[in-house]
Amino acid sequence: MKSAKDSWNANLYDAKHSFISNYGNDLIELLAPKEGEKVLDLGCGTGDLANRIFADGADVVGVDQSENMVGQAISKYPEIKFTVGDAICLGYKDEFDAVFSNATLHWIKQPEEALSSIYRSLKTNGRFVAEFGGKGNVQMITDEIILQYTEAGLEFKAENFPWYFPSIGEYASLMEKAGFRVTFAQHFDRLTPLDGENGMKNWIEMFGSRIFEGLNEKLIGTIVSRVETNLKNTLYKDGIWLADYKRIRVIGLKE
Ligand code: BEZ
Repeated sequence: MKSAKDSWNANLYDAKHSFISNYGNDLIELLAPKEGEKVLDLGCGTGDLANRIFADGADVVGVDQSENMVGQAISKYPEIKFTVGDAICLGYKDEFDAVFSNATLHWIKQPEEALSSIYRSLKTNGRFVAEFGGKGNVQMITDEIILQYTEAGLEFKAENFPWYFPSIGEYASLMEKAGFRVTFAQHFDRLTPLDGENGMKNWIEMFGSRIFEGLNEKLIGTIVSRVETNLKNTLYKDGIWLADYKRIRVIGLKE
């Protein structure tokens, strides 16, 4: 399914934000794909992790909501099937041995629908292995953005917050409600280095653009530069910008 507006810049993502798929390598260890297994990579981005799963001998399908990302994935890895699709209505039934998802589910603000759609896609005995932002993720960054909104005399509306960052208890309960047996659940800190002197500004521009919807470029520039200044004491260490990531990792079984 096509989203209303595709704000993803696939080249920028590959050039400056490849750390996201690099962290996903550990998650592939948790997935432990086997030769011949059918695996859905949900939120495949530009395809790097799907390609690693494919290299382990699995038959992979990559799905992403962004046409730009899927286009880039197809041109990088033409031997793998990639398609545009929406996590809340994947349209598969009893097809996959595993659904794998890295750094995607925090974008889905209808987690119940996404979990039902994932559950439906799995075969009996299939597994769901995911990592995404948990409660408190990037909170120092977003608190500062919201503060600067207020300082500029603007009201920040909760519906403009682009992400869903649940606690582990909340998400494990939703998984159980969808039918999964939760066999693994973890919520941990991962201070994440960002690339370059403009790392924080680039991160906000790449991932946070929805927070600023409706504001003009000049005002956005002013807010971002104040956020940078105010975060420097806490999130800029030895010449490197850090993002205060907090991750959730889960495994659920469809029995
Ligand atoms: C994350 O991977 O946790 C994340 C990435 C972009 C925006 C928000 C969170």
